[in-house]
Amino acid sequence: MKRQTGIGEHVDPAHTNQGPLSNGLNRAHEGLNRSLRVLDRRIAGESTRDEIAEAFSHFARTLGNHFRFEEEELFPNLLLVTGNQARAAIDVLLQEHVELMRRLEILSQAIASGRDPKESFDAFRKLMSSHQAREMSLVYPLSNMLLPPSVRQLLAAHIEETEAPARRGRSSS
Ligand SMILES: [Fe+2]
Repeated sequence: MKRQTGIGEHVDPAHTNQGPLSNGLNRAHEGLNRSLRVLDRRIAGESTRDEIAEAFSHFARTLGNHFRFEEEELFPNLLLVTGNQARAAIDVLLQEHVELMRRLEILSQAIASGRDPKESFDAFRKLMSSHQAREMSLVYPLSNMLLPPSVRQLLAAHIEETEAPARRGRSSS
């Protein structure tokens, strides 16, 4: 499927979802989704508030690392290499990061107060999934296509470093 990027390029995700950077980015999203599913199961099941809070804090930490990587490394490099032409697309993603953090805070408060967190969890998850789809259909393939190989290699190594602590502390039930 070809997609008009608005910056004079056609991105075909099928041809740009390869290589270490792409693998690392996909793995990061898979890790976040796994951690979100653990939280979902605990909220829906009979877990104690502490167990829910533990799954929440693992997810929140992983998400914070991922956003930091995107905001401080991936997005600036993409802006550089596109001469700022990816600005509009990246601005949308950054606004969604802000909104996701706002919803995460509401969820955190619901969990801490002992209120049923289901509604705030669903609101968070809905935006999270459209946000990830947006990244994976445009900005990730663009990064993989336009960033020089040396930069892709470096960013892939940084993702590994960012994700490793999250994997070590992974909750699985
Ligand atoms: Fe992302």
